[in-house]
Amino acid sequence: MAIIAPSLLASNFLELGAESRMLNQSVADWFHLDVMDGVFVPNISFGLPVIEQIRTATTKVCDVHLMIENPGNYAEAFKKAGADILTVHQEACPHLHRNLQQIKLLGMKPGVALNPSTPVTVLEDVLQDIEVVCLMSVNPGFGGQSFIPKTLEKIRALKLMIQSRGLSTLIEIDGGVTLENAKEILEAGADVLVAGSTVFKSTDPIATIAALKAL
Ligand code: DX5
Ligand code: ZN
Repeated sequence: MAIIAPSLLASNFLELGAESRMLNQSVADWFHLDVMDGVFVPNISFGLPVIEQIRTATTKVCDVHLMIENPGNYAEAFKKAGADILTVHQEACPHLHRNLQQIKLLGMKPGVALNPSTPVTVLEDVLQDIEVVCLMSVNPGFGGQSFIPKTLEKIRALKLMIQSRGLSTLIEIDGGVTLENAKEILEAGADVLVAGSTVFKSTDPIATIAALKAL
């Protein structure tokens, strides 16, 4: 069964407490929390103090997606804020292996995100150190964009890499996931679906999450 990770980026920030409690009561598995620094991506979202507050409103896994430069400088702070999974971008990490070891040492699960233009082969020599590979199916920085179809091929290629090494690395798909394309994404080999707009812009987020989970 797929892991469903709604992205709070699309929620109503004025009602973050209520949105978090709603998610906590849904069948969602993870809270997907998008941190943007305005440097690595052309947008700024929220950061440490907001995540610290969200943490108090849920017992679910907090999956923090760092779209920031020098993520190693903040790994410890995100652990303190309550992150369970900490995902860094390969494109922001010239010393990716070191970043992954640091995250593991701090007691979090290490994740690596790849932009749409980055091939999955860049992970060949670190795959064994990664718990979650987040394939961006839109260019990071904004919610509400359309799914890039080429991602399906990347999922299949990555799945083969994972299986041929006997690993249990999870494949997470982030961006443009809808009730219409989710099945195809899962069939290609994805394990985790991130959904922002699909969940929070729907009339009944709880039911939408349940529908994604039931696929
Ligand atoms: C984009 C973020 C995504 C975003 C997805 O940079 O990483 O997690 O919230 O939003 P939707 O599901 O609306 O594409
Ligand atoms: Zn994300």
